[in-house]
Amino acid sequence: MAWIDACSTDDIDAEDVIRFDHGGRTFAIFRNHEDGYFCTDGLCTHEDIHLADGLVMENTIECPKHSSIFDFTTGEVETPPACNNLHCYKTKVEGGRVLVDI
Ligand code: FES
Repeated sequence: MAWIDACSTDDIDAEDVIRFDHGGRTFAIFRNHEDGYFCTDGLCTHEDIHLADGLVMENTIECPKHSSIFDFTTGEVETPPACNNLHCYKTKVEGGRVLVDI
């Protein structure tokens, strides 16, 4: 685990998500409605679908394929068909950059 500079705070709109690839892995970085930044694994736990193509509402992401909803602040799945939680990674903001502990 190490802090990695992932993006600028301005690279993500409020209530939106971007894909971030690093070291052969893929992640999703979220900005919620209160300008909090969060990071999870990039793929849905149901099938290998990129969550960055989904819809963010407040602290949740809706998978674009079968509409499972996850709380990206905790990784918990709230709506099936997915039944496994997402893994979350720590984030911090420094000097206008979003760092992720991956
Ligand atoms: S791939 Fe995400 S809910 Fe099916």
